[in-house]
Amino acid sequence: MGNGRTLGVGLIGLGVVGTGVVQLIQKNREDFKKFRGVDLDLRRVAVRDPGKPREVDLPTGAFTTAEALVEDPDVDIVVEVMGGVDAATDLCCRALKSGKDLVTANKAMMAERGDEVFSAAAAGGASVGFEASVCGGIPILQALRDGLVANQVESLYGILNGTTNYILTRMTDEGGSFDEMLQEAQDAGYAEADPAMDIDGTDAAQKLSLLCRIAFRRRLDPEHISKEGIEGISPVDIDFARELGYTIKLLGIARPLGDSIEARVHPALVPLDSQLANIKHEFNAVEVVGSAAGPQVFTGRGAGRLPTASAIVADLVDVAQRRLAGRGESADLARLPEAAPASPDSVKISAYCRFTVFDTPGVLAQIACIFADHNIGIAKVIQHGRSESEGDTVTLIMTTHEARESDMKRAVHVIGQLPVVQHEPKVIRIEEL
Ligand SMILES: NC(=O)c1ccc[n+]([C@@H]2O[C@H](COP(=O)([O-])OP(=O)(O)OC[C@H]3O[C@@H](n4cnc5c(N)ncnc54)[C@H](OP(=O)(O)O)[C@@H]3O)[C@@H](O)[C@H]2O)c1
Repeated sequence: MGNGRTLGVGLIGLGVVGTGVVQLIQKNREDFKKFRGVDLDLRRVAVRDPGKPREVDLPTGAFTTAEALVEDPDVDIVVEVMGGVDAATDLCCRALKSGKDLVTANKAMMAERGDEVFSAAAAGGASVGFEASVCGGIPILQALRDGLVANQVESLYGILNGTTNYILTRMTDEGGSFDEMLQEAQDAGYAEADPAMDIDGTDAAQKLSLLCRIAFRRRLDPEHISKEGIEGISPVDIDFARELGYTIKLLGIARPLGDSIEARVHPALVPLDSQLANIKHEFNAVEVVGSAAGPQVFTGRGAGRLPTASAIVADLVDVAQRRLAGRGESADLARLPEAAPASPDSVKISAYCRFTVFDTPGVLAQIACIFADHNIGIAKVIQHGRSESEGDTVTLIMTTHEARESDMKRAVHVIGQLPVVQHEPKVIRIEEL
């Protein structure tokens, strides 16, 4: 370990995030020594191709392989920013079991294999920092764990994915279809070449499961989080939402419901004057309602080199201080009870429904009757005159009062079977926030 306050850092991955980590360690090392009592000495760096030109200067002889790095006695803390799940889990668990601490930005690994990682940490008496894996630069896990320690979290609403927020913001502010705005997001570097896991809600569900672990002290497998992406959102929904006083966001929502946790990711109408409605482009935000502190909103950049590196280096300093104080922290995270997902019968929602119907008398009454039969009250109805492009059909918008989600699904299914209804009805939940 060198002198008493110096800790050896090993970095696996020197891409977008890893380069930022090196930059921030090099820039702040003296301040950390002076004000935090820790000296972070970057000793080893593992990459796939050591011959590639790099943007940062590294100590001579720093390059090594990931396998050698996790065995290296000069490394006290491993920073994993290589990505992927299986190889990363294997390397991280080996490091932890041998007593090295871990800091990672790898949400996929932590969401899918977090139990193994925390068990390895418990076995090695080591700590795991994974702030950067949820909402990049926003210190949300620290806020939940430390700042809100005297609270029970009553609910949590998050815009957890920057790519989808960027697409929805552009669709809202400038018009344009989902496909056009996805292409623009890719051209601007906000969406990956394969954006499937962002668009279909998988990325947000992984982050939500990690938030649940800290907020509710329970494990919730991302597979148990119901998810729906934004690919079905059309400009017409955005226009009608605005007319009703809402905008559309992809939300991750979690709240305890008895012994279970209601957790879901889906597009939702949120009031135009709510704080989340005004989180735009690639920004992320999490609104937490604490039992003592009430509602609080945390917002900032959810990805990118320096925002993500900022969270990693904050974890590094924290983990280093714990190590120097002789305290590991992750053992309890390995033993959290599993939360049961809430059943659709216990979840209540209100909804925006768009129907394409033949413009004949009595249609509205038929639909209203089916809603009534399923104990669903109608809040508002919008029907504009027929447009040329609609031919014999018109668009009918209905919003509902709160009702059981299972009733809503059944009612919409029955309505979709009516001969007067063309196309599959579109349902988007409303969250009043
Ligand atoms: N980018 C973001 O804004 C962001 C935000 C939050 C979280 N994250 C997470 O951070 C992690 C890294 O993302 P990134 O964008 O920095 O990725 P990246 O730019 O693709 O960099 C990956 C790095 O890992 C190295 N690497 C890959 N396989 C390796 C192996 N087997 N052994 C040693 N090194 C290996 C690569 O080496 P070469 O350079 O030689 O190819 C590269 O330096 C991912 O888990 C990602 O989900 C990223």
